[in-house]
Amino acid sequence: MNGKNGIHVLDVEHLSIRDERSGRALVHDSSFRLAQGECLAIVGESGSGKSLTCRAIMRLNRTGLRQSGTVTLNGEDLTKLSDKEMRRFRGRRLCMIMQNGMSAFDPSRPIGVYLQEVLSVHYDWSRSETEARLSAAMAAVGLREPSEAMRRYPHELSGGMLQRVMIALAIVMEPDVIIADEPTTALDAVTAYEVVEQFLRLRERLGSAMIFVSHDLGVVRRIADNVLVMKDGEIVERGTTRDIFAGARHPYTRYLVSSKEALSRRYNQLMGGADVAES
Ligand SMILES: Nc1ncnc2c1ncn2[C@@H]1O[C@H](COP(=O)(O)OP(=O)(O)OP(=O)(O)O)[C@@H](O)[C@H]1O
Ligand SMILES: [Mg+2]
Repeated sequence: MNGKNGIHVLDVEHLSIRDERSGRALVHDSSFRLAQGECLAIVGESGSGKSLTCRAIMRLNRTGLRQSGTVTLNGEDLTKLSDKEMRRFRGRRLCMIMQNGMSAFDPSRPIGVYLQEVLSVHYDWSRSETEARLSAAMAAVGLREPSEAMRRYPHELSGGMLQRVMIALAIVMEPDVIIADEPTTALDAVTAYEVVEQFLRLRERLGSAMIFVSHDLGVVRRIADNVLVMKDGEIVERGTTRDIFAGARHPYTRYLVSSKEALSRRYNQLMGGADVAES
């Protein structure tokens, strides 16, 4: 799974996560790497450990979950950093875009106030400079009136708009790695499509590596270079997106791909279209 130039930005080795109370292994001996500019999709059924894996990289899993293994970002072992050092990495070097835009923002303050504060932790720009950068990034993701959007409270924006604001923040932050955990599931099909377009542009613009968790194999096929398939906390298959869709080896992956194709056939039939399984 080497990338364009073989440099690995992120290296996850032997990651295991266990629920301390029940002793249950939730993620078991998971290892994968992310090359510069690569987009790696993680797919798998609900409860297979995708979000735990993302949060483990960010060190955002709750206490009560014991984590082992190493997570190396550009040569730095994140599992060894102090909480304070980790806070500096989060946001600036590693940026997570969540499924639910609402929960990513502070509901009690206008979006712009919150964004100013987040950025002030990492940069010593003046207010007006921060605002100018944010406005440019928001315009780039198709938010037509950035200053108007920044005056709004999170509940006043739609899910699609909040996703765009998070992508805009990532543009300003220029992180090394972006982790997107099901960023389109809460959106309707048209908005989801637009948000995926924004992710594609974000990658083009920043060249950031990206982990993209999604149930939507159509989206995965569009955006990802490589795919990891998880089942019951283990990686059961990995490969290039093309190989996974063309000839998955593991029966579970074949099942995922074939149910997606059956669904899109059914969808096309319902829409009165041809009987094709394209996404
Ligand atoms: N804080 C926790 N304490 C104990 N068990 C947990 C905790 N968080 C998650 N789990 C369990 O770990 C397993 C993996 O959860 P995870 O959220 O990573 O799944 P997922 O693949 O992201 O699923 P989905 O597709 O539904 O988002 C699940 O069985 C879940 O119940
Ligand atoms: Mg999840």
